[in-house]
Amino acid sequence: MPVSPSDIPVVSAFDVEQIRKDFPILHQTVNGKPLVYFDNGATSQKPRQVIQAMVDYYERYNANIHRGVHHLSQKATSAYEQARETLRSFLGAASADQIIFTKGTTEGINLVAQTWGRNYLKEGDEIVITAMEHHANIVPWQMVAEETGAVLKVIPMSTAGVLDLEAAAAIIGVRTRLVSVVHVSNALGTINPVQEIIALAKKTGALTLIDGAQAVPHFKVDVQALDCDFYVFSAHKLFGPTGMGVLYGKADILAQIPPYQGGGDMIREVSFERTTYNEPPLKFEAGTPNIEGAISMAAAVQYWLGLDHQAVQEHELDLLHYGTEKLKETGFIRIVGEAPEKVPVISFLMDGAHPYDVGFILDKEGIAVRTGHHCAQPIMDFLQIPGTLRASFAFYNTRAEIDRMIDALHLAKKMLL
Ligand code: ALA
Repeated sequence: MPVSPSDIPVVSAFDVEQIRKDFPILHQTVNGKPLVYFDNGATSQKPRQVIQAMVDYYERYNANIHRGVHHLSQKATSAYEQARETLRSFLGAASADQIIFTKGTTEGINLVAQTWGRNYLKEGDEIVITAMEHHANIVPWQMVAEETGAVLKVIPMSTAGVLDLEAAAAIIGVRTRLVSVVHVSNALGTINPVQEIIALAKKTGALTLIDGAQAVPHFKVDVQALDCDFYVFSAHKLFGPTGMGVLYGKADILAQIPPYQGGGDMIREVSFERTTYNEPPLKFEAGTPNIEGAISMAAAVQYWLGLDHQAVQEHELDLLHYGTEKLKETGFIRIVGEAPEKVPVISFLMDGAHPYDVGFILDKEGIAVRTGHHCAQPIMDFLQIPGTLRASFAFYNTRAEIDRMIDALHLAKKMLL
């Protein structure tokens, strides 16, 4: 018997109203209506603790790092390196030297493609990705494949948005040098079985890279337990700043691969004849880095770690189930992507109406969702759809906000169909 959304008991004791007080941006009206922010997959909102960390840095100890004996420089350096330690602990890495600060997930993948990929791939080598990658985990490999003669192979998925592991076992073979897989699909919300895929790669000796951009905001990741070679994510989806992210790498690989960019801080000695490079992670951090970004990302991680994760997960699952059932109950919404393991991301369509038009009407009702292909055009081509509407929830969202979206969708239906 189908479950009616109102029958779904609230399982979480999570005090969402208390949590919402930490997020100033949520308390405003948009187009005369209270804001409902369901575009967390694109970027999340920031708690005041993160905003305060940025303000403190600029008001009290802004200075360049690793370059000054003076008080402010020492203080900034120590906060920057303390941030690296916070990120080490967050990912369960063995050493802070394995944490490279980047601009975000995209730069992390490009760094691996341009350093390891360009130097170690050769003609006929295979790079394996999946059918549900974000463009950031497709294009850098196409670029490096074009340069080196390597070949891109793709693990297929079902229309429900589940990877075909039997096909993965057949595709990952003796020519595979790298398996680069998204942990959680940004467009569909699927949580991929990366542990199994990493095990397949290990059998052939291939390296593994996991794109964790949409995973780390929702569940704890331990890179040593996963035993991946690289893990990348962005701070801004994790309640931290934009323009900041992390590349984790295994120590022996980071020691072996050449630097990414040349400049200050990544060197040991420079002369016109010869330059020697710093050790990781500084070898990969040329130039003055995003100091405020690292410090406020660490504040975001500390905020996230301070939450009751059992309660957060129950609350997020509740939003996923409640939202899915409510959307289905309308009778005019089609869910896109129904994998059994999902984070609280729901892609959907109103048949007969373009996602942009529906998104426009939702915005007029104060509701922010993302519309389009979500930087994952191959998924849309495979499903033969132009794009979707995507409601991506964070722990600060509520059932009442989902009800508001459902009302707005009824209004959109009246206006468009
Ligand atoms: N990758 C981001 C998203 O999924 C921008 O919306």
